[in-house]
Amino acid sequence: MTGTHSSTAGTPAALLRRTEVTHRFPEGFVWGAATAAYQIEGAARDDGRGPSIWDTFSRTPGKVYAGHTGDVACDHYHRYPQDVAMMADLGLAAYRFSIAWPRIKPDGSGPVNPRGLDFYDRLVDELRGRGIDPIITLYHWDLPQALEDRGGWTNRETAEHFADYAAAVYARLGDRVTTWTTLNEPWCSAYLGYGNGLHAPGRRDPAAAFAAVHHLLLGHGLAVRALRAAGAGTVGVTLNPVAAFPADPSSPADAAAVRLVDGLHNRIFLDPLLLGRYPTDVLDHVSRFTDLGYLRSGDEKIINAPIDVLGVNYYAPTYLAARPGAAGGGGAYPGTEGIEFLPPAGPLTDMGWMIEPAGMTAVLTRISRDYPAVPLFVTENGAAFEDKYDGGGSEAEAAGRVPDVDRIAYLDGHLRAAHEAISQGVDLRGYLVWSLLDNFEWAEGYRKRFGIIYVDYLTQRRVPKDSARWYREVIRRNGL
Ligand code: FCB
Repeated sequence: MTGTHSSTAGTPAALLRRTEVTHRFPEGFVWGAATAAYQIEGAARDDGRGPSIWDTFSRTPGKVYAGHTGDVACDHYHRYPQDVAMMADLGLAAYRFSIAWPRIKPDGSGPVNPRGLDFYDRLVDELRGRGIDPIITLYHWDLPQALEDRGGWTNRETAEHFADYAAAVYARLGDRVTTWTTLNEPWCSAYLGYGNGLHAPGRRDPAAAFAAVHHLLLGHGLAVRALRAAGAGTVGVTLNPVAAFPADPSSPADAAAVRLVDGLHNRIFLDPLLLGRYPTDVLDHVSRFTDLGYLRSGDEKIINAPIDVLGVNYYAPTYLAARPGAAGGGGAYPGTEGIEFLPPAGPLTDMGWMIEPAGMTAVLTRISRDYPAVPLFVTENGAAFEDKYDGGGSEAEAAGRVPDVDRIAYLDGHLRAAHEAISQGVDLRGYLVWSLLDNFEWAEGYRKRFGIIYVDYLTQRRVPKDSARWYREVIRRNGL
């Protein structure tokens, strides 16, 4: 069991006993939860869905823990009414979910499969019927395999197909969905998918990773254009900016290491999106690996299409030190040899990630300081812990409880950090906990549990954890 640190939040009961709200959020602050298609839906072959890169990758021996796949996952595809009822019980104002591109266009670029859209049609109606605002993410990593077979995100055409797919989804759901997010964490898609091979499609080629960065951004820009042309109201994108800090705050070499990693992870996305051009120091670095032939004149203007909201996902900070001979960040950060990525220290989550809420305040304040004003949203934040519920007659089961005090402490700390960012002037509009349900945690399979609702994968029984009750109380009070 990790993380025995004390909690200022305590249990839901402790929160209930407190009469005073010490950290009140602005009126209209949006409280919600997030999931992603491949991680929860299952029904991998239902209603004409085509294969995605995660179907292929999870079937490749050694890529995903214990050979787990998303074939069944949380069976949300069939159980969504129950799941939406649980969201309503929590008092969620918004639910962020992703659309599976291979359900809508089974081969990525061909005709639309109406039965795939039917599912999201039903889901959106169910949500709205319960007063929950749907926030759609169009791409949360499940690229149609047929497009990967043609080069995936290293191929410029994928960006164009993405915009066509976005328009097809909008045409069906645009009358009932106001908030549209193009991509989730393109850093992961590009660098983990094509750089270090930890995620699908599992390629390990720095030049491919940088081409993927650009085509993901281009796909975003083209999709924004298509969504706007169709009448979309609120359009944005979600990044996972790294909160990088120097191991020694007084060392100029450590500061240079932070600058490089910040360039490869943050500025390479934020600058073209919000300032309309790639940073020259980053392009210089990237040209060590590729001739940049994929970057055409006019692309940066497309990428710079105005957005209405920027989603920020935050989990943990990264500490860096300049050390001759250090291996660097590998394919996830090409060309960072001589930089040590310090091993996580202090209380850790079950992912082995550091728990440092101040990193979230730092990321939010930095973006609002360095970039033109755009409203921010925390689109993911949460933690995996080894939740104890064996489904076999334990005391917790008898009481219908999963005690997860570590997760409550994590969420409490990060909500305080978000509140601090707001006090410092950040225009933060909402917070979405990752995740509603325990789910398929990519290369980690089902062994890492991020949900505020426990899922027993043998029975598909859902059990709200203590953190769910705690979160309901936070929402009700609009604060801590
Ligand atoms: C983020 C992903 C999300 C989930 C969390 C833990 O990087 O967007 O799907 O896996 O991490």
